[in-house]
Amino acid sequence: MATSISIGSLTVESNLFLAPLAGFTSLPFRLVLRELGGLGLVTADLVNARSLIEQRAAALKLIETRPADQPLAVQLFGAVPEEMRDAALVVESRGIPVVDINMGCPVRKVVRVGGGSAMMVELEKTARLARGIVEAVKIPVTAKMRLGWDSQNLTAPDLARALEDVGVAAIIVHGRTRDQGFGGTVNLAGIRSVVQAVKRIPVIGNGDVVSPAAARIMLNETGCAGVTIGRGAFYDPWIFTHTRSFLQTGELPPDPGFEARVRLMERHLDRMIEVFGEAAGCRQFRKIAPWYARRFGPAIEFKRRVATLASRTEFQEILAHYREWRRPFLDDQGELKPNYQPAAMVASFMQTTPASKTDRLPTPQGPVEFW
Ligand SMILES: Cc1cc2nc3c(=O)[nH]c(=O)nc-3n(C[C@H](O)[C@H](O)[C@H](O)COP(=O)(O)O)c2cc1C
Repeated sequence: MATSISIGSLTVESNLFLAPLAGFTSLPFRLVLRELGGLGLVTADLVNARSLIEQRAAALKLIETRPADQPLAVQLFGAVPEEMRDAALVVESRGIPVVDINMGCPVRKVVRVGGGSAMMVELEKTARLARGIVEAVKIPVTAKMRLGWDSQNLTAPDLARALEDVGVAAIIVHGRTRDQGFGGTVNLAGIRSVVQAVKRIPVIGNGDVVSPAAARIMLNETGCAGVTIGRGAFYDPWIFTHTRSFLQTGELPPDPGFEARVRLMERHLDRMIEVFGEAAGCRQFRKIAPWYARRFGPAIEFKRRVATLASRTEFQEILAHYREWRRPFLDDQGELKPNYQPAAMVASFMQTTPASKTDRLPTPQGPVEFW
């Protein structure tokens, strides 16, 4: 069901959330998504607790927000209880309504220091760390985790119960283990076992929700109170508003089409430039634009040129050139000819045959490849 949801003292209008994708779900994307509607809580890209306490410019930039970007959760990572507590106090002092603890990040540099998914194997220590934060702040504290370290150690249900006992207000669970990375299937039964482990607090399911139908299956089969969507929000930024309608009426709104997707991408770039400046905004957008292009059909030429994007004017030129380049792939109505239409993305837990190369969710290369 599409419904409002309580996270501790906070009521959120929609139970369809945006999951953090470091480097992608920054303020500009969140503002663009909000304009489309249907979105509940958004979580900003994870921020290092110590950097936040030290008020480093990069850390403060990560938690930058606007009234239109609410309600927002800021996610902290770190393993030193006092630092996590003090960073949570910084988050609270900036008027941010939710603080989230990263317990799922499999990136080596986070795990090595005892943060991220390393937290999933030391239940008591992790619960103590969470308790320290809960006792220090008045805002709700949530925790985002995976199912466990590996299939032999599915600790999420026990950890969720321990966290509920120390006052954590909601659990967000990606239905994979740390060992799985982004491979294999999202384990709905695993998410359900977390839902069943807690007494009162909401559990938010996560992983591979790429369509309204996938959201409905995750909600129905796990009993989770809401879903949070990461990569699927890039694949289809309308996923929140469309899922809301689908859950309420059973009807799917029409696909927005190429030109509407391009307009949205342009708005996103405009916001990037507004928030980060033209040079840095365009540089960051080089890795973001290809995610939009997954729905464009043939797009090699677009991706090639956008890889060196340096200005807003250049983006206009790239788009004008790409529209011409794309024309031979269109029919008389201006729609992609059937053999050029991209394969529909299907959630791992809805696939009947192994996923083909083209319909898998992307996990970008680079420093975040271990997410
Ligand atoms: C590029 C990238 C960056 C991510 N950054 C974070 C992060 O900062 N914090 C976090 O808890 N999870 C992070 N994740 C994991 C996502 O929030 C989410 O749990 C995962 O992608 C599965 O959901 P999805 O299939 O809807 O994308 C990241 C994932 C990707 C692909």
